Amino acid sequence: MKGSGLLEGVDFALDEMPGDQLHRILHAYRERGPIQSTRFLGLPALIITSHQALSRAFMDTESFPPHAMYQASFEGAIGKSFISMEDPKEHLLYRKRVTPAFRSRAVARYERDDLAEIAHELIDRIESRTSFDLVESFTTQFPYLVISRLLGLPRDREDEFQNWAFALLRFRDDPAAAKNAREKLTEFISPVVEDRKKQPRNDVISELLQVRIDDMSLTDEEIHSHIRLLFPTGGETTHGSLGNLLFAALSNQSLWERLCRDPSLIPAACEESLRWETPIAVLPRLSCSDETEFLGITIPGNSWILFAMAAANRDPLVFSEPDRFDLDREKDESLTFGRGVKACPGMHLARKNMTVALQVLTERMPSLQLTDLDSAQPRRTVLRSPAALHVRK
Ligand code: HEM
Repeated sequence: MKGSGLLEGVDFALDEMPGDQLHRILHAYRERGPIQSTRFLGLPALIITSHQALSRAFMDTESFPPHAMYQASFEGAIGKSFISMEDPKEHLLYRKRVTPAFRSRAVARYERDDLAEIAHELIDRIESRTSFDLVESFTTQFPYLVISRLLGLPRDREDEFQNWAFALLRFRDDPAAAKNAREKLTEFISPVVEDRKKQPRNDVISELLQVRIDDMSLTDEEIHSHIRLLFPTGGETTHGSLGNLLFAALSNQSLWERLCRDPSLIPAACEESLRWETPIAVLPRLSCSDETEFLGITIPGNSWILFAMAAANRDPLVFSEPDRFDLDREKDESLTFGRGVKACPGMHLARKNMTVALQVLTERMPSLQLTDLDSAQPRRTVLRSPAALHVRK
């Protein structure tokens, strides 16, 4: 059977699958058929790899209720936010009312001026050095500074804010530290919320305070949980997408030089990077509680179903020469931001973050060179990114 050696013992939660290894594995699964048996967290799972099947699976919310995984894995740390709401009507209502805050005037202003300012600030800190790790000094920090500034938090405590956000995200590894971080974040953000109630500003907290659901404002706890929601959804994903973009650009010297010479190619490079090496390579869903059927396959109740966006994004039936990083692809058919009721409401900000970061980096540091290709290979699947990007100037 095709790819059987390669696929033996594969576990999408436990294996790192660096660089091309993930894509060889996903191609091998897809060649066997659009939905195949695999493992996740040591448990039996099914993986969906073809573009057509995955587009259908995103829309089949009866078989694959989209809130269930978030309820099981996020709610303990984040609290109740629309991402984990079970009732589709309630989810839609909150999503409709709350997400404009992520695309609001506050965000538009940030796009224009402040994203570039953040990128410049981070580069100022490393400019005098000849070698550094871009993951440590840039891709890890950039998204959290963006969130902190969007929220309008005090600038002199941004480092503390970032450390609490990281601790909260590690809630599975260290629940006590996450609990402590959540309390600290609440203590830190509460006075800002109180201040914005009295004097609204042009920031996301002020926008959240204006939200009305059935004529009622969000409770303070809802404001806090929707702020916390930004860490995994806006922070971790952007961290991954920046790392993968810089890996794509810096591991191909002629591409990097082309982008430095002609910055008008940068938006196309960001788009292609989101297809070629997406930060959510595999999105785990839990199936509905009863046994169901999808594409003629029996799906056991409450089982792991892996939505392999990284595989759909390299499906040869949709993308010609799918493994090639190609700046000239015309249509964006990637499934990077999902489809249907949960399609990513932050995709505009995500694209903007990447474009601005790459513009500033190519402008300020055109002579960058990767010095360790191994550690720069994107790794892991649910959140995929390089462990390090060691470079010299
Ligand atoms: C490159 C970066 C990003 C990627 C690849 C990404 C990807 C995704 C995907 C695939 C989904 C759908 C999940 C599902 O079907 O279960 C999603 C949902 C979501 N994303 Fe993003 N995202 C990114 C950036 C952002 C940013 C910057 C924000 C916030 C400003 C954001 C906020 C959200 C939220 C709140 C949801 C949940 C939507 C819902 O429950 O209806 N994302 N994202």
